[in-house]
Amino acid sequence: MKFFVDTADVKEIRELNDLGLLDGVTTNPSLILKSGGSIIEVTKEICSIVNGPVSAEVAATEYEQMMKEAAVLSRIADNICIKVPLTLDGLKACKALRSDGHLVNVTLCFSANQALLAAKAGATFISPFIGRIDDTGINGMELISEIRTIYDNYDYQTQILAASIRTVNHVKEAALIGADVATVPPATLKALVKHPLTDKGLETFLADWKKTGQSIA
Ligand code: E4P
Repeated sequence: MKFFVDTADVKEIRELNDLGLLDGVTTNPSLILKSGGSIIEVTKEICSIVNGPVSAEVAATEYEQMMKEAAVLSRIADNICIKVPLTLDGLKACKALRSDGHLVNVTLCFSANQALLAAKAGATFISPFIGRIDDTGINGMELISEIRTIYDNYDYQTQILAASIRTVNHVKEAALIGADVATVPPATLKALVKHPLTDKGLETFLADWKKTGQSIA
């Protein structure tokens, strides 16, 4: 499974990238707002840090304007992935951008039929929003499962990018189902390493090691 980080916080991205944990980054207008920077400058810096795809979202809702914005965003760096919303105009833009050789992430996916359309439009990534579906009282993970089945039925190459992840359990369940990528907030990504028995075991080993009076280097 590939790990993307879901943030526009350059400091967090740099730290996670240095750990060797990052395969890419996803941003959205809300995350750009939170970063406090300009979309062009922030995205340019992120692209210079991470080797993998960096999703930058168009803000337009109509095809022509989406394409104009995509042209600007795609000039930022070679690893830009254009993010378009799951609307008819977004799908049209997806198809055109893919024909031009761009990476495209179709975002705001909340149903299996939407994911089917994105695959038909040739999307590189489809982003089903697990946490936001959970918020409505429906199990968001079922959507990941449905999309996996449909894509496998027809051998679609669109990668399932599990998004709106809120918990470490979301990551585990998405991996068990076979999502290709999980985009995870920085704190949740770092929390994946935590286990109380690891901490307890390490504490014991360190205490016993001290008693040996030895040093390795
Ligand atoms: C995905 O690309 C989105 O940026 C993100 O996962 C949305 O998550 P949220 O529901 O926590 O805002």
